Amino acid sequence: AAAATEMAPAARGEGGGKPFVDEMRAVAMRLHTKDQAREGEKEPQAPPVARWEPTVEGYLRFLVDSKLVFQTLEDIVDRAAVPWYAEFRNTGLERSEPLKKDLEWFTEQGHTIPEPTAAGTAYASYLEELSEEDPQAFICHFYNVYFAHTAGGRMIGKKVAEKILDKKELEFYKWEGTLSQLLQNVRTTLNQVASSWSREEKDHCLEETEKSFAYSGDLLRQIFT
Ligand code: HEM
Repeated sequence: AAAATEMAPAARGEGGGKPFVDEMRAVAMRLHTKDQAREGEKEPQAPPVARWEPTVEGYLRFLVDSKLVFQTLEDIVDRAAVPWYAEFRNTGLERSEPLKKDLEWFTEQGHTIPEPTAAGTAYASYLEELSEEDPQAFICHFYNVYFAHTAGGRMIGKKVAEKILDKKELEFYKWEGTLSQLLQNVRTTLNQVASSWSREEKDHCLEETEKSFAYSGDLLRQIFT
């Protein structure tokens, strides 16, 4: 209750503008292809998820790279080189620990865990760089990586598990507590943090969305190549 009363008007969606996270979501939804999501506006280039022919090797590369990316995001907010990054600690959305357990499971199944690929290391070092030099752009990636994983990412995980993992449900797709509530809490924090940003800083954050799609797209593509 205290947080609600202390929140700046913009964080509550008052003062004329809509909550900033709604703007972030709108930009992200437009960058989906029409076959990925109802609100998508791009023409599909790759085959739709339903027709992916995933391999365990490709999926493992995706999981290893994802673990590196989530670990990097989690380390950055723990370190909080920018003090307000600390607001994004312990959101309950963290994925590096669940992924660690999943990779252990694959090892038990007799699979060899690969090293991260160039796609994973490139994204991790880009995130490190942004986190120090461009906080608004960094937050764009933070939002898109976590939220994409709970939406399209989960859908993809289910389809892949049906095709190659005998429906095994990975820890990557399980959250402690109610996911919708965890997401809502992070949306509130994003709105609060962004309420002190200028319009230019907000636009700069939104403009980073395309890069977020490009980097995450490189990771996802590995599942079926
Ligand atoms: C939401 C599909 C890739 C970011 C969604 C939704 C779907 C979806 C179905 C839910 C839409 C709704 O609420 O009605 C997919 C598929 C993808 C994909 C099939 C790839 C094959 C990505 C990528 C990003 C991304 C690469 C960014 C890195 C988001 C975001 C949301 C979203 C931010 C909003 C989540 C929320 O509001 O809670 N996606 N997506 N998606 N996606 Fe994706």
